[in-house]
Amino acid sequence: MLLTPFLHLLVLLSLSIIIQPCYAQSFIFNGFKSNPTNLTLNCGANITENGILHLTNFTARSIGRGFYSDPIRFKNPNTNNSLSFSTAFVFSITPRYKKLGGHGLAFTISPTKDMIGAQPSEFLGLFNVSSNKNISNHIFAVEFDTVKDFDVWDINDNHVGVDVNRMRSINSTRAGYFIDGNSTKNELCLTSGRKIQAWIDYDGEKHEINVTLSVFSKKPITPIISIPLDLSEVFQDFMYVGFSASTGRIVSNHYIYGWTFNMSGKSESLDLDHLATLQTFYKTDDKVDDKGDDRGDKVLVIKFLGSLLLVLLAALVIIVGRVYVKKFKNIDVVDDWEIDVGPHTFCYKELKDATKSFHDKGLLGFGGSGKVYKGVLPDSGSEIAVKRISRDSKQGPKEFVSEISTVGRLRHRNLVQLLGWCRWKGEFFLVYDFMANGSLEKYIHNNAKMILSWEQRFKIINGVSNGLVYLHEGWEQTVLHRDIKAGNVLLDSEWNGRLGDFGLAKLYDHGSNATTTKVVGTLGYLAPELTRTGKPTTSSDVYAFGALLLEVVCGRKPIEMKASPEELILVDWVWDKLHEGALLKVVDSRLNGKFDEVEVTMVLKLGLMCSNDEPSLRPTMRQVITYLEGKVPLPKVFAPSCDGSEKSGFVVKFDDDAPLLEIVKI
Ligand SMILES: *[C@@H]1O[C@H](CO)[C@@H](O)[C@H](O)[C@H]1NC(C)=O
Ligand SMILES: *[C@@H]1O[C@H](CO)[C@@H](O)[C@H](O)[C@H]1NC(C)=O
Ligand SMILES: *[C@@H]1O[C@H](CO)[C@@H](O)[C@H](O)[C@H]1NC(C)=O
Ligand SMILES: *[C@@H]1O[C@H](CO)[C@@H](O)[C@H](O)[C@H]1NC(C)=O
Ligand SMILES: *[C@@H]1O[C@H](CO)[C@@H](O)[C@H](O)[C@H]1NC(C)=O
Ligand SMILES: *[C@@H]1O[C@H](CO)[C@@H](O)[C@H](O)[C@H]1NC(C)=O
Ligand SMILES: *[C@@H]1O[C@H](CO)[C@@H](O)[C@H](O)[C@H]1NC(C)=O
Ligand SMILES: *[C@@H]1O[C@H](CO)[C@@H](O)[C@H](O)[C@H]1NC(C)=O
Ligand SMILES: *[C@@H]1O[C@H](CO)[C@@H](O)[C@H](O)[C@H]1NC(C)=O
Ligand SMILES: *[C@@H]1O[C@H](CO)[C@@H](O)[C@H](O)[C@H]1NC(C)=O
Repeated sequence: MLLTPFLHLLVLLSLSIIIQPCYAQSFIFNGFKSNPTNLTLNCGANITENGILHLTNFTARSIGRGFYSDPIRFKNPNTNNSLSFSTAFVFSITPRYKKLGGHGLAFTISPTKDMIGAQPSEFLGLFNVSSNKNISNHIFAVEFDTVKDFDVWDINDNHVGVDVNRMRSINSTRAGYFIDGNSTKNELCLTSGRKIQAWIDYDGEKHEINVTLSVFSKKPITPIISIPLDLSEVFQDFMYVGFSASTGRIVSNHYIYGWTFNMSGKSESLDLDHLATLQTFYKTDDKVDDKGDDRGDKVLVIKFLGSLLLVLLAALVIIVGRVYVKKFKNIDVVDDWEIDVGPHTFCYKELKDATKSFHDKGLLGFGGSGKVYKGVLPDSGSEIAVKRISRDSKQGPKEFVSEISTVGRLRHRNLVQLLGWCRWKGEFFLVYDFMANGSLEKYIHNNAKMILSWEQRFKIINGVSNGLVYLHEGWEQTVLHRDIKAGNVLLDSEWNGRLGDFGLAKLYDHGSNATTTKVVGTLGYLAPELTRTGKPTTSSDVYAFGALLLEVVCGRKPIEMKASPEELILVDWVWDKLHEGALLKVVDSRLNGKFDEVEVTMVLKLGLMCSNDEPSLRPTMRQVITYLEGKVPLPKVFAPSCDGSEKSGFVVKFDDDAPLLEIVKI
């Protein structure tokens, strides 16, 4: 009996011990070799033999994640406020092709470790198209992104960004670091393969987040991102912390060397020299661009010979070797301007082997500028398309290469990626991603072997419009495609529409179809002002895109020579039917009426707006996508009270503020 109060006390005491929240949590991984059990790996991630977390290898469109196995308390249950945290980690990114990284990695705090359904590429394995922007994601991430993705408003192809529940960053900045006492930011190339240390510090009271980068062990005083941010709504009581990385069509290795995390104070910095080095670089099956990485060579030398002197010797040999090779290849002079261009240079032999000496069996097609062959790269087994251009261009090789270096850095999932190029004995070779389903032209005209459904067509239209907005607005310079047509829309294995041959129209006349020798383009897609001025603009691209829209819906070429006179010009015919109130009669009869009438009507009207004879009255591609996405209703099209005999004399007025389409007879 006497014991009872004492027992009560004991129970109370032990309860209070259990209830007493334990926020303080910290850990440090100086490499992952001995303790991978407290790290949950998923998708393609693995730990290398010497303890480096390898998130992705060169597998296209893959995801790799490594998360701390136990959840961590991120909220004070008494106040509901988010708790402060601090973390530091060391990572490196080595791309398949020099300077062409894909896609990036993100430090992530999330309610789950696996994020089922998340996509690779620009989503970094965190979100997918439908979950992006959803506040019930409860995901906080700091991205280290090596691709400029227009869809998610990336600022460039080498940035650090703070993301909450969506890929569009709250704030982002060029990758770089400060050195104490100097207020100039040093540029830092994320894909250089160097070890980079990143610190992320969040103050849960002041609601502030800092991101700091350096290539050294010591943390710089000045962060590269320091912004107010309240994560109370984002964090749940318990969250997982870790890394997620992804590749797209362009691939990189993403590595984490060490990681510290602290809920109860600042994280210790990691000592770069005491972390493992990528010795397994050449041990994996992954082929590394041999030109791209001297560092890797040196590591091997250190490993096998362990002598600094020999490293120097080796470097000397490499330099001498290169000079020798340069001389040897002198017929094919390697000028300074060739060295620094973005995409990969292939050697002629590589392409010759890949295409079985440009055998006719592998011929995919030919156009005004050259023949296109299918090839398989012997190293990686990846499929490529090689365009062989005979050298009769008016532009010199210098302009050609500088053009390629621009175009090669354009990256968007609706563009056919230019992977590289090669110059050999006066001939140029351009290497592209291979598009499994060939060109759209094969599927929409009369003699098509297979008919695309409306859903497929609509998806293609959307894809092409996104690709074109990117060309017009997503890059430092406006890139004019100049030859948009069904034949230049290529379909990948998932039936996504991708624009091919972009930018190159600037360099080469697609001779055969052009109406005059000066004007580049294809009859039926050529804006009327082009024949007058000869000066291409974004709105002449829009005109061609309009013709493509009508073509895809109607399953007919813009100018059908065999058609009856009233159907000869597709745009005019569609106008006629619109005035007759029988717009849906123009829809491809092979669809057997299986289509969404609202979408079809919208696309047809959009096609007409884009095909306006007056350039200033056409919508921009930016406006076009807002219509296609259904964000803004399409302006009403008023049929004029006329007898329809002067169809080419209509002016369509397009007013941005009060979208209203007016047709005025002139
Ligand atoms: C991981 O687990 C191992 C064994 O359970 C332990 O020795 C080590 O300290 C843990 N490491 C971290 C960083 O939690
Ligand atoms: C590369 O990653 C993929 C999964 O993303 C995996 O299946 C494959 O085994 C990895 N290859 C190597 C050589 O590690
Ligand atoms: C991960 O690495 C180990 C050896 O380090 C290897 O045996 C295993 O196959 C790898 N797993 C994957 C999925 O690549
Ligand atoms: C904390 O938030 C949760 C969910 O929003 C709520 O149920 C709880 O009452 C809050 N606690 C405090 C102390 O405000
Ligand atoms: C997108 O992600 C969410 C959760 O993150 C998942 O429930 C959904 O199935 C995914 N959608 C697709 C199309 O994969
Ligand atoms: C956000 O995600 C939740 C849970 O997955 C889902 O119920 C909700 O419909 C989504 N909201 C939007 C706007 O997609
Ligand atoms: C990021 O935040 C800084 C400081 O608040 C601001 O100057 C900068 O413009 C922001 N950048 C972006 C891309 O939002
Ligand atoms: C500050 O850093 C910049 C960029 O690295 C450098 O050019 C400059 O000389 C440095 N200034 C001083 C005073 O060290
Ligand atoms: C962020 O950086 C600023 C400027 O160096 C510093 O004053 C502030 O205390 C830092 N905040 C955190 C959470 O580390
Ligand atoms: C976490 O912070 C506390 C307090 O500053 C410090 O004593 C401890 O060493 C830190 N732990 C790690 C792993 O950084």
